Amino acid sequence: MKLGTPLSPSATRVMLLGSGELGKEVIIALQRLGVEVIAVDRYANAPGHQLAHRAHVIDMADPVALRTLVEQERPQLIVPEIEAIATEELARIEADGLATVIPTARATQLTMNREGIRRLAAEELGLPTSKYAFAESLKELQAAIDAGIGYPCIVKPVMSSSGKGQSTIHTPEDVARAWDYAKAGGRVDRGRVIVEEMIRFDYEITLLTVRALDEQGQIGTHFCAPIGHRQEQGDYVESWQPQRMSDKALERAQLIAAEVTENLGGCGLFGVELFVRGNEVWFSEVSPRPHDTGMVTMVTQWQNEFELHARAILGLPVSTVLRNAGASAVIYGGVEADGIVYAGVDQAMRVPRTELRLFGKPESFLRRRMGVALAYGEETDECRQRAAEAAFLVKPGLPE
Ligand SMILES: Nc1ncnc2c1ncn2[C@@H]1O[C@H](COP(=O)(O)OP(=O)(O)OP(=O)(O)O)[C@@H](O)[C@H]1O
Ligand SMILES: [Mg+2]
Repeated sequence: MKLGTPLSPSATRVMLLGSGELGKEVIIALQRLGVEVIAVDRYANAPGHQLAHRAHVIDMADPVALRTLVEQERPQLIVPEIEAIATEELARIEADGLATVIPTARATQLTMNREGIRRLAAEELGLPTSKYAFAESLKELQAAIDAGIGYPCIVKPVMSSSGKGQSTIHTPEDVARAWDYAKAGGRVDRGRVIVEEMIRFDYEITLLTVRALDEQGQIGTHFCAPIGHRQEQGDYVESWQPQRMSDKALERAQLIAAEVTENLGGCGLFGVELFVRGNEVWFSEVSPRPHDTGMVTMVTQWQNEFELHARAILGLPVSTVLRNAGASAVIYGGVEADGIVYAGVDQAMRVPRTELRLFGKPESFLRRRMGVALAYGEETDECRQRAAEAAFLVKPGLPE
């Protein structure tokens, strides 16, 4: 395994498709290894743009724009950070031998659409999931619920993330509203939704799973300690590591994660989302890339999830060892404005054993994730309190 010198003919070039807070940290990890980084996003001055060798603004869902940029930049590796990408074009780029898509073009295709990954997990791999059905009209949705999904259930556009267009149905009166909401919130208006039985879990986890080369050149699978998290409106607000689990549940979670990631293939880090009740475990979904709930690893692991991803995709060895417990708490914009100001950073940092990350996003929305507070210590519950306190003390506001 060799690495080159950036901005020279020997450079190891990596292109990030999506350069938000997660891409930014992957870029930091790559920059530390002298990798030449090209950051791409749909808007200017995205967090990762601000520290890459070159930055581009394109519509990543446009296959022509994507192909043109890849031919211009000639990266060896293409690293998707988001789902909304022209993944058929990524498949062509991979097939033409132009670049390696991380982890594989097929993985990006299967996971950008809930239908692809759900059918793979449940129907091909036979893994436990919630009961589910797909629908393309209000009538089909109602029929699917009546035919066995039942109440309560959850409706999601097949193409959406961060809880967009997602809602819970408790009674027949909620169905039409959920249908309209999903139609409005999907990424492409194909009007196709998944309806899932609501799983009454005790807790949910992200199992960060890394596929990396070993000394023999074989791909090995490594697991991080499970990350517990709490979601509000389909978006994560708080995460902690390790989540305490029974041996049996952890073993099942790792088996599921190993099967799914092996099928998706390639090298890199995956965030496998699972629901747990007692010793029972259900597969929910998987990101073939660092996961938002995994930001906690910036203060809990010797190699955080971004470093693990960077190492794995470069063919380097990894270690998923946990250093100590920790927690993360999201800092939302709270205002709609450009160039906002963060007050209380000093107060937040006075909370013992905490750190802050402010992402530097040019524009703030009420529920946009603008930063995260991180706390580390011996015990997760106590870390959660400190992370929440530090996040609370940061006050985003309008510029003076
Ligand atoms: N079938 C289900 N049963 C119980 N809870 C569910 C179910 N599906 C989703 N949820 C809850 O909603 C959250 C978000 O769902 P999901 O991960 O499918 O959406 P998403 O839009 O892909 O979110 P993200 O992009 O943030 O991962 C889950 O983490 C879980 O808390
Ligand atoms: Mg999810």
